[in-house]
Amino acid sequence: CGIVGYVGRQNKTSGAHGALDVVLEGLRRLEYRGYDSAGVAVLTDTGVESRKKAGKLTNLIDVLQADPLPESLTGIGHTRWATHGGPTDRNAHPHLADGGNLAVIHNGIIENFAEIKKELLAKGHTFLSETDTEVAAALLGDIFRTTGRGDLTLSMQEAARRLEGAFTLLAIHRDQPGVVVAARRNSPLVVGLGDGENFLGSDVSGFIDFTRRAVELGQDQIVTITPESHEITDFFGNPAEGKEFHVDWDAAAAEKGGYPSFMEKEIHDQPAAVADTLLGRADAQGRLTLDELRIDAAELKDVTKIIVLACGTSAYAGSVAKYAIEHWCRIPVEVELSHEFRYRDPIVDANTLIVSISQSGETMDTLMAVRYAKEQGAKTLSICNTNGSTIPRESDAVLYTHAGPEIAVASTKAFLAQITATYLLGLYLAQLRGNLFTGQIKDILADLHEIPAQIQEVLDREGEIKDLARSMSDAESVLFLGRHVGYPVAMEGALKLKEIAYIHAEGFAAGELKHGPIALIDDGQPVFVVVPSPRGRHSLHSKVVSNIQEVRARGAKTLVIAEAGDDAVRDYAEFVFYVPQTPTLLMPLLATVPLQIFACELATAKGFDVDQPRNLAKSVTVE
Ligand code: G6P
Repeated sequence: CGIVGYVGRQNKTSGAHGALDVVLEGLRRLEYRGYDSAGVAVLTDTGVESRKKAGKLTNLIDVLQADPLPESLTGIGHTRWATHGGPTDRNAHPHLADGGNLAVIHNGIIENFAEIKKELLAKGHTFLSETDTEVAAALLGDIFRTTGRGDLTLSMQEAARRLEGAFTLLAIHRDQPGVVVAARRNSPLVVGLGDGENFLGSDVSGFIDFTRRAVELGQDQIVTITPESHEITDFFGNPAEGKEFHVDWDAAAAEKGGYPSFMEKEIHDQPAAVADTLLGRADAQGRLTLDELRIDAAELKDVTKIIVLACGTSAYAGSVAKYAIEHWCRIPVEVELSHEFRYRDPIVDANTLIVSISQSGETMDTLMAVRYAKEQGAKTLSICNTNGSTIPRESDAVLYTHAGPEIAVASTKAFLAQITATYLLGLYLAQLRGNLFTGQIKDILADLHEIPAQIQEVLDREGEIKDLARSMSDAESVLFLGRHVGYPVAMEGALKLKEIAYIHAEGFAAGELKHGPIALIDDGQPVFVVVPSPRGRHSLHSKVVSNIQEVRARGAKTLVIAEAGDDAVRDYAEFVFYVPQTPTLLMPLLATVPLQIFACELATAKGFDVDQPRNLAKSVTVE
């Protein structure tokens, strides 16, 4: 989501801004962070006034034209990418509390909102939306009236101490004119410093048109801005310091977080995409709680077959899912391209669970396949990144990935989030059916929780793979080999290169090599090989090492992605990129990242627009 906050002083020396103008301008710049709904709230002499509307920002602007807000010097605004609760007017931010005197906007996911909601309901609070944000607003309002002693900063500190998960919260209150208070944990927030006015934004694009002086907040901090000051504390009220910096990006670069392309930004968003997809999906005992699934647990228990339906990159996420779900749940899993499914008279019945995977939730091929499966009596579950889109709406159940909006046509962070979601689904089914012990599930979840930091380690060493990519910008063909979960990783590595660098690329199952593709190997032919962990099944690892030798003996230039500590591959590789250690089943979340970076850098070196590759569309709504 995108968030903006503003406080200004009347009679400032340099030009006067109205809160609404500043906030709307900020939202316009931040709309790439979410476009399900938008809303604003301002403080006036009489109290808090707010307008909000589902859909793009222009819908809100129409509302404001029909029903204008009074002039104001204090305001907040939000552009939403829905996580809890669909993209409706009612679920749009701001959310009001304390009898309409308090307005709150939020970016992130509050993990313990259900528990807090229960407490507040018992105290007589009522709720209008399904969002975790409204719960945070009610909590803040409750604290403001009691222990917070009518002080918004104190109240925010206490509220932030109660909340778990990831959040940036911004609040304004009628009793505190000229003040905006914000809290931040695991979600972004930057302060913009002006002359007689101050700003808040989820990134600097939120105020780049007004000031270039910015302060970055640390983890678990609260900031209170007034027209003349910004005060930072921790969640306990101890003074803290932010890091001031000068923004030298132009507005377009700011949207991309300073990266040259959305694709590169989204590759770097991946630690957060995986972490956010894991958030709030297990309780303290390590039991998965996919309450949002909206499907009866008893029905899921009886599933005898799973068919994953998807297209493009999402289909490769499905191929990874097959290995994990079959291994953990002992349920047969078929993976099929959506457009092939309908035309082959598939065997589907009431005990078949269709799992569709779609970033956009609008891919027509997948939608038609889901409809067909429903007609045949199957249960349908959608894994989707876009709340309220058609496929999850038409499915019996939904599990949202929380990657945030993906702008670049070639999918990156949505892919990792999809794989993460399928793991959660697999573990949940194993828990329901008793295929795994609670302790085993807990261990796998612990490994999954390591992944975001491990992706970051890969990103920190991206220079190694970028150098390789630049040195290969005249390659005419690149092959990718993998086995087991490394096979879909190889397919995805090849697809990325085709999509954005327009280079012929193929992914193969390494074992299939000898049955044909090895004839392609010639002197200097670049071949990426995704090597499974040597700590896993020994035979799998040694087979892939043999495959590297086979292609090398025929002249291939071998480029190896292996696990840290796998010294055996070094002798056979022209280039090795090591990824951190994780169990083989989870390895796609790490091994894919260098291949994404490779494709992105190579396409960039060739001078192509990586965000909008030729002939492709982000969401294909025709069959
Ligand atoms: C298009 C995009 C691909 C994407 C595929 C599936 O072809 O160019 O990047 O993987 O659609 O999209 P979905 O939104 O259903 O995941």
